[in-house]
Amino acid sequence: MGNALITGTNKGLGLGLTKTLLDKGYKVFATCRNIVKAKELEELRKRFPDKLIILQVDVVEPNAGENISNFLNGEPIDLFLNNAGVIGPGTQRFGGVTSTDWLEVLKVNLVAPLLISQSLIKNIDKGLEKKIFFLSSKVGSIADNTGGGMYIYRSSKTALNQVVKSLSIDLLSRRISVIALHPGWVRTDMGGPNALISIEESVNGMASVIAKKNLEDSGKFFNYDGKEIPW
Ligand SMILES: NC(=O)c1ccc[n+]([C@@H]2O[C@H](COP(=O)([O-])OP(=O)(O)OC[C@H]3O[C@@H](n4cnc5c(N)ncnc54)[C@H](OP(=O)(O)O)[C@@H]3O)[C@@H](O)[C@H]2O)c1
Repeated sequence: MGNALITGTNKGLGLGLTKTLLDKGYKVFATCRNIVKAKELEELRKRFPDKLIILQVDVVEPNAGENISNFLNGEPIDLFLNNAGVIGPGTQRFGGVTSTDWLEVLKVNLVAPLLISQSLIKNIDKGLEKKIFFLSSKVGSIADNTGGGMYIYRSSKTALNQVVKSLSIDLLSRRISVIALHPGWVRTDMGGPNALISIEESVNGMASVIAKKNLEDSGKFFNYDGKEIPW
């Protein structure tokens, strides 16, 4: 197994993906924005002292990607999972949207994933798997939108999907797969206690999708159970 880099790993799906990839034998570069608060990640490092490397990164910092790339110092990245994300404020109905709230969410969910990918491209080029996955959401699917509302979060993931499509085309000649992944509605801080599935169920499904999908699946959008989702 090779090297994986995952953003937003102190809790939720990022922490779950980190555990699963370590169990599979990957060396994991796990970023989180506040190491002091990442207690579970620190505990995990005791079990995998040589395989888990924790980096403190706020993905919206202007030099976030460059700082990660400098830290990696030419090390290959086989698998890059853009996981860090925010849902934004509770009120996202028509009439309640503000520019400040919207731009904050776009910086994390849309701008940072592409900028960090740009900075890491040389590391990914050196990897054997050459896969980039972006944690998107079914609520970003225009075809699936029957409920309306949720302007801020929906649009951030819809635009991220467009980034995935363009990047899949631009990186095809370098044989890098670029895929959007919906984790399901998961019981995390973001998904809430009433969500449909556990972190384990989501992460096990996503790990299987990540292992199976390759260049011929690049530029597509998949559910955690492997079914394709319409854009
Ligand atoms: N849960 C669901 O049902 C669901 C459904 C569809 C898609 N997703 C997507 O799945 C991904 C993970 O979601 P989750 O449910 O695990 O959410 P979560 O429990 O709220 O965790 C989000 C992670 O992102 C990190 N993060 C947020 N802003 C950051 C920043 N500026 N810099 C660095 N890290 C930052 C958080 O760090 P802090 O703790 O420091 O804030 C946390 O580690 C997100 O992209 C989300 O949109 C989730």
